[in-house]
Amino acid sequence: MSTAKKEYKRVTVKSLVEMKSNGEKISMLTAYDYSMAKIVDAANVDVILVGDSASNVMAGHETTLPITLDQMIYHASSVIRAVKRALVIVDLPFGSYQSDPKEALRSAIRIMKESGAHAVKVEGGTEIKESVKRILAAGIPVMGHLGLTPQSIYKFGTYTVRAKEEEEANKLMEDALMLEKLGCFGIVLEKIPANLTKKVSESLTIPTIGIGGGKYADGQVLVVHDLLGMTHEFNPRFLRRYMNLYEEMGNAIGNYVKDVKSLDFPSDDEQY
Ligand code: KIV
Repeated sequence: MSTAKKEYKRVTVKSLVEMKSNGEKISMLTAYDYSMAKIVDAANVDVILVGDSASNVMAGHETTLPITLDQMIYHASSVIRAVKRALVIVDLPFGSYQSDPKEALRSAIRIMKESGAHAVKVEGGTEIKESVKRILAAGIPVMGHLGLTPQSIYKFGTYTVRAKEEEEANKLMEDALMLEKLGCFGIVLEKIPANLTKKVSESLTIPTIGIGGGKYADGQVLVVHDLLGMTHEFNPRFLRRYMNLYEEMGNAIGNYVKDVKSLDFPSDDEQY
């Protein structure tokens, strides 16, 4: 059974709110480069997130903290060149929006102007309220991100499930309501109990997008390299792998090496 209700030639922030009110689930995936974004967009994914997880997946860093604004703009502009249908959201990287609202606005403007992206995403609640307000006031759509916020990993200490205790769950709910009131068009809920996702999603008119947030979110997001099984050391419970590309690509590349070594490649038909 599909929840899809309507065809969208071009997905906008308004489409996402409409999907929620129509009971249609929203699909979201990361992409960081032109080739992958082309495949993801052609498969009708509603939202492409140029996530700061590029810091881990593309650059091999342990956390998302080192990636810079310039690097995010490079990834985002590559993605934008590939996309015809999806809404493209770009993470504001760590350090580009937390210190003061003016800097937050400058960073968001650089992303929008230099990459052509459609919206930005920021992590946190009341702590970044003034920055969110400032960006929204400039007409830039903002998505929030609550629960496990990887830019604060050194505060949390681990990547375990967040907001299991009442106090943290209440704060998350307050932050979600505040982000909606400010004018955010959606909120990512990362690694929180499914029942809390349900409560938050039912309390908001804007959509929630879960990653490890369970089935009650209005949409789901995964890192595309995880979904395709290109990464193989990361195995959280919430991840569904649809392929084992790590193995398949390794085998294909191994066969190429074998063919070169054995003089099988190139054949007479593969030369001029
Ligand atoms: O950077 C990212 O990929 C994200 C998702 C995990 C939501 O923020």
